[in-house]
Amino acid sequence: TKRRAVMAGNWKLNPKTAADAKTLAALVGAARRDVDADVDVFVCPPAPFLADVVRVLEGSGVAVGCQNIYWKDSGAFTGEMTAEMAKSVGCTHVLVGHSERRELFGETDEHTRLKTRKAIDCGMTAVLCIGETKTEYEAGQARRVCSRQLEAALEGVQADELSQVIVAYEPVWAIGTGLTATPAIAQSVHAGIRQWFREKYGDGAASKIRIQYGGSVKPETVDELMQAPDVDGCLVGGASLVAEQFGRIFNFD
Ligand code: G3H
Repeated sequence: TKRRAVMAGNWKLNPKTAADAKTLAALVGAARRDVDADVDVFVCPPAPFLADVVRVLEGSGVAVGCQNIYWKDSGAFTGEMTAEMAKSVGCTHVLVGHSERRELFGETDEHTRLKTRKAIDCGMTAVLCIGETKTEYEAGQARRVCSRQLEAALEGVQADELSQVIVAYEPVWAIGTGLTATPAIAQSVHAGIRQWFREKYGDGAASKIRIQYGGSVKPETVDELMQAPDVDGCLVGGASLVAEQFGRIFNFD
């Protein structure tokens, strides 16, 4: 049988105000009608809204993650937020290595490793985002790029720590473009990712690690994606800002 599904909404730099964030969170919580359904759900709002969203979602069956952390514990690092700070306001998950962080904010594989390490040490779940660009995809390098990113980010992470890791495969060419990878493409890369875990950590770890697909997931595409044997969930951007759509996604068939 497949692993427990895990559905996440990445709000990115939205919505505009705390009031809007609380409204959206309340609608997402209400869309989670069956708290006991066999799926984990969490949303990742911008940092200023985290505490409010945690409060709104209390008891709803929707957890809260942050979109980024810094790997230091304190000090003169203006503008940053520690894992401990996020955890102290109720965050359980943190996105690490999102392609927008890598492309727009200069994050390297090494930064991704440090953040993954910090999230684990802090008792949070790291959602490790990996994925190839369009050029790399066209050159047939999707699996190779993913393996390189996994190798770098998980260096030093032990098998028994993988319960605190979720992998999100997000082909850069599918993010915010309306181009969802076909279930066949997603399945093929997800199988390659699982194979990487098999070689590095063994069968047990490989069969347990949860791998989300991200990139223009919509209510119309989620059911088929979720039928792919190695797709365990979705990391949703745009569609997670519309509670009805995100609800339809995490209540997938
Ligand atoms: O983290 C989410 C992804 O970047 C996907 O975003 O659903 O808007 O394509 P999208």
